Amino acid sequence: MTSGDWSRRQFLTAASVGSLAAATSGTVPAYGNLAKKAGKLALLGGTPVRPNKPWPDWPYCDKQILQSMAKTTQSGNWCRIQGGAQGVVTLEKEWARLTGAKFCVATGSGTQSLHTCVEALGIGPGDEVITSPYTDPGTIAGILSARALPVLADLDPASFQLDPDDVEHKINENTRALMPVHMMGQPCDLDRIMAIAQKHNLRVIEDAAQAHLAEHRGRKLGTIGDVGCFSFQSSKVLACGEGGAIIGNDEALMDKCYTVHNHGTSRRGLTEAIGPKYRMNEFEAAALLGQLPGLLDRHRRRNENAAYLTQRLKDIPCLVPQKLYEGTTAGSWYLYTMTYRKEHLNGIDRATFFKALAAEGVTLSPYIKQGLHREPWIDTILNMKVYKTMYAPERLRRYRDECRCPKCDQVCEDMAMLWASGPLLGTHEDMVQIADAFEKVYVNRDQLKSA
Ligand SMILES: Cc1ncc(COP(=O)(O)O)c(C=O)c1O
Repeated sequence: MTSGDWSRRQFLTAASVGSLAAATSGTVPAYGNLAKKAGKLALLGGTPVRPNKPWPDWPYCDKQILQSMAKTTQSGNWCRIQGGAQGVVTLEKEWARLTGAKFCVATGSGTQSLHTCVEALGIGPGDEVITSPYTDPGTIAGILSARALPVLADLDPASFQLDPDDVEHKINENTRALMPVHMMGQPCDLDRIMAIAQKHNLRVIEDAAQAHLAEHRGRKLGTIGDVGCFSFQSSKVLACGEGGAIIGNDEALMDKCYTVHNHGTSRRGLTEAIGPKYRMNEFEAAALLGQLPGLLDRHRRRNENAAYLTQRLKDIPCLVPQKLYEGTTAGSWYLYTMTYRKEHLNGIDRATFFKALAAEGVTLSPYIKQGLHREPWIDTILNMKVYKTMYAPERLRRYRDECRCPKCDQVCEDMAMLWASGPLLGTHEDMVQIADAFEKVYVNRDQLKSA
């Protein structure tokens, strides 16, 4: 069975039975056997659902990774431009093959990949790129490093992804590109984002930093826009400490990406452009190549485990799983995320709920504490000469006003995130325990009043 075969069926089931139904109904369903989960909460001295049991180790490490890294160390070829170096080039070929892209350029991080693409597309001072406020700072760092203006659109609060209506609303004559982020490793509303880009003649840089091997209508994320960027930072589902990659099908554009990331020096050996030095090194490539053999198996396991959790959550209305858009045929499941709905837990605040779960042996957390629209970089750039010179005063005044994303604020308050790279590689019993812990706290919510 291919991952595509599997994921189409599982995703439709999981999405329709779990997240979509629970998200839209707003009602408390009938609870089959929930009553049998009644018992004293561990927070109050009861027995934990999952006492002191470790999750699968992360970052993933096995013999093949160690051998691959030792081989590179012994070879003395530590940098991609050394004559005998093969690691980075092989990794680029393999990542292009696995994603179905024609070309790949490996870099030192996801942030570096995004910045490289912005520069390669000729986006700079005076230009605007629309992206999400609910993401890693690396997303906007790629835009700011080119001294372009990141314009933040608000979210669809059920999916935690960019709201296409707000994206379209924020397009103006300076907008050059959209940078949709596939949050939590699941596709954003790509059908609509791509249609908007086409209508307004904009380039699309997919921030797929969290979304390795996730699919939209059977196509891997990162291959749908003009270029797609990945992160291989330690926490990601494919990791080498720090690392990144750009994929794309446009040969000229990908050639430009190579030039930019190689301090402006092209494959032809000429220094042709402005560019930082963002090359991946051979050790990073060796760590990644060593973990490719089992990658698809781990991807499948995360998808199966995520589908199980989503199925179980249909009976637990205080946790609503992330909405998946139609056309989602596989997720990456870097994070398994839910909306915490305290109205179904006697109004108990999220911190207390998380404490009760942690006592049962399952850790949930927020993602980022506030959206990027609330961070101080906005003041920094509004006071910088380059921004004051390159953008009209009226534009900068409006910019501050437009940096309001109330739905993102709500998402930050209600997010309940399970980091999934390691935990979703667990056994079925591990998943049963996660769901049982959610269920136990939900069923015994009345005890929390006194916690
Ligand atoms: C959505 C997103 N974009 C960009 C980045 C930046 O990637 P890196 O940390 O590899 O620079 C990350 C990293 O967490 C991310 O999650």
